[in-house]
Amino acid sequence: MLDIILQQLHDHGMVQLANVLDSSELTLINDFIEEKKNEFLPAKVGHGAQRMRNEAIRGDYTLWLDPKAPPEIFQKLTLLLGNVLEALNSRYYFGLRDLEYHLAYYPEGFFYSRHIDAFGKDPSRVVSFVFYLNETWNKEDAGELVIYNHDGKEILQKITPAPGTMVIFLSREFPHEVLACHKERRSLTGWMHNKILE
Ligand code: OGA
Ligand code: MN
Repeated sequence: MLDIILQQLHDHGMVQLANVLDSSELTLINDFIEEKKNEFLPAKVGHGAQRMRNEAIRGDYTLWLDPKAPPEIFQKLTLLLGNVLEALNSRYYFGLRDLEYHLAYYPEGFFYSRHIDAFGKDPSRVVSFVFYLNETWNKEDAGELVIYNHDGKEILQKITPAPGTMVIFLSREFPHEVLACHKERRSLTGWMHNKILE
């Protein structure tokens, strides 16, 4: 699996893999999400004093996890991320030094309008990754991740957040958006950085 990921990232700047997490892993993760539901916070947009909730831009709720001590149920996922990070450094000299991630859910009807992950306060983001955590997802549930080319004029991928699918892409290359979902949409989303995070 690592070789496919590395090859695709190198050749296309993005990779999408189905069924990285199986249904028993997803069940455990979803039990965890249910348990922690009241600890999720509304995601905000903007910087510093301007930071605020704006559901016309993004409507998700997030719970940051400690990458140094992730709960056991995330072990497979964090091991994989660590291997990808190390391999990007040793094979392609990415200079990645740290990573961060949060759980996210979008209530029914919410979305995240088009954006780039590496910006203003987060210039050190180099690689973005998402794991989709719903146990079922049908086409009519919508909530696709739409990835555009660098200048935003062309749609490159429209990815269904299918159970256990993983997507990794270069943070600076691809504007992307999350279309409105027709049922609650769950993911683990994060970034690899080229600096140590405080
Ligand atoms: C993000 C994001 C994509 C997704 O949180 O920055 O773009 O498919 N998420 O959840
Ligand atoms: Mn994003």
